[in-house]
Amino acid sequence: VNDAYRAIARRRVTRRMTDRPLAPEDLDRVVRAARFAPNAGNRRLQPVTAVTDPPLVRRLRMVSPGMLPLPQAVLVISIDFARAAAYGFRPDAPGLLIDVGTTAATMLIAAEAVGIGACPVTSFSHAAVSRLLEADADVRPQMLICLGHPDADQPPAMRGAPVGGPAPAAPGSR
Ligand SMILES: Cc1cc2nc3c(=O)[nH]c(=O)nc-3n(C[C@H](O)[C@H](O)[C@H](O)COP(=O)(O)O)c2cc1C
Repeated sequence: VNDAYRAIARRRVTRRMTDRPLAPEDLDRVVRAARFAPNAGNRRLQPVTAVTDPPLVRRLRMVSPGMLPLPQAVLVISIDFARAAAYGFRPDAPGLLIDVGTTAATMLIAAEAVGIGACPVTSFSHAAVSRLLEADADVRPQMLICLGHPDADQPPAMRGAPVGGPAPAAPGSR
């Protein structure tokens, strides 16, 4: 088992973060990891915006009921619907959202690998986040990734499947 697999298996959502700042080079590594995510047709229609300005981070949190931690940085993954249309994608083309997921998953694992805690958030006011970011009308935020150092004391994990999920089907079965 190599380090990449260990980071995947170790990563858990961080819902309480300390006020210790992030090393800029670590934050940069997490943001740049998005470029290595697999992407439908390699079109790269999911821009990532890094927000580190503390007042803006706090405002983002105020419009995001799903954001429990007060993070040091928020990475906003958007879909650029204008560029998507130029490539002939319909707005509801599944690849557009799937690529938000691959981008998020890659950055979450990168955060774990560099020693930063992370929490994905989709429960937020899309209109309010767009306004706070002064984003073009066609560039719509889809997911927020909160980043910060984990507090030693974490709230309990959400109920659901056990960590690691239900057992996968045996190889060869359908
Ligand atoms: C699409 C998506 C949306 C999520 N939205 C939120 C959210 O709004 N707030 C939150 O605290 N966690 C959110 N999560 C994190 C999940 O609750 C978490 O991944 C799950 O409970 C499993 O925990 P683990 O990642 O620590 O294994 C989201 C995860 C995904 C994939």
